[in-house]
Amino acid sequence: MKSYPSIQGAGIGLRTEHYQYILNNKPSIPWFEVLSDNYFGLGGQPIHVLEKIRQDYPVALHGVGMSIGSTDPLNLEYLTRLKKLADRIEPAHISDHLAWISVNGRYLNELMPLPYTEEVLNHLVERILQVQEFLGQRILIENPSPYVSFPQSTMSEWEFINEMTRKADCYLLLDVNNVYVAATNCGFNSFEYISKIDPTRVKEIHLAGYEDKKDYLFDTHGNPVHPPVWEIYQAAIQHCGNVPSLIEWDTDIPEFEVLMAEAAKAQAILDGIQVKKEDLVTVA
Ligand SMILES: [Fe+2]
Repeated sequence: MKSYPSIQGAGIGLRTEHYQYILNNKPSIPWFEVLSDNYFGLGGQPIHVLEKIRQDYPVALHGVGMSIGSTDPLNLEYLTRLKKLADRIEPAHISDHLAWISVNGRYLNELMPLPYTEEVLNHLVERILQVQEFLGQRILIENPSPYVSFPQSTMSEWEFINEMTRKADCYLLLDVNNVYVAATNCGFNSFEYISKIDPTRVKEIHLAGYEDKKDYLFDTHGNPVHPPVWEIYQAAIQHCGNVPSLIEWDTDIPEFEVLMAEAAKAQAILDGIQVKKEDLVTVA
């Protein structure tokens, strides 16, 4: 299995709006995460900028198109493009989502949830093993932010994820905002979830902002990290240790300095510094 330089500390999701700022200012950020699917064209401006940024920063690849939970055959064209990008960028690691997005070869714009059953578990494990064999490295799978739960599920999400990571010998990208969104929408306890997750499998943590729709939480990645999510993050760091963590912001993208301030809060928690509750609220 391949391994590339590791990442540490609180990074930021790289977005096109900040290319020029980063190239001009070389901000003090330990690493960036990029959306793999946006760099599959191996020519043109995006990959050119990414290669320049990669000269100065470690990078992790995070995708949405693997459709690991689908019953469609694995998309070899997608995996080939991902592998070529990884060969070129040498990422710290590669991740995608516990979800399906394709059916009969047709792709959706949403990450769709799965029921937590033995049948789905075995299906996922087999496919993750195939992907890892193809890529020549272990991958990280991110926990979802579902709005519904399935009556067919025979185990909790954390039990499912622990079994999946153990059987497929893969890792978990623990998105603590997703934990809170799922816990609120589906009715479980975020802190119990964190305490039950196998900490040895957690290789990255995501932090993001949801939108409160009153009768449910919507995972928009368009707000500062909310106070309850910071509290879950603190619990996750206590449980899992000093895991590289990322500020994800995908809609209504603010100035880069706002993201740096969010990353600084995460870094303070990683460093074991007590952060006051009122200091965890950002005005974007
Ligand atoms: Fe995430």
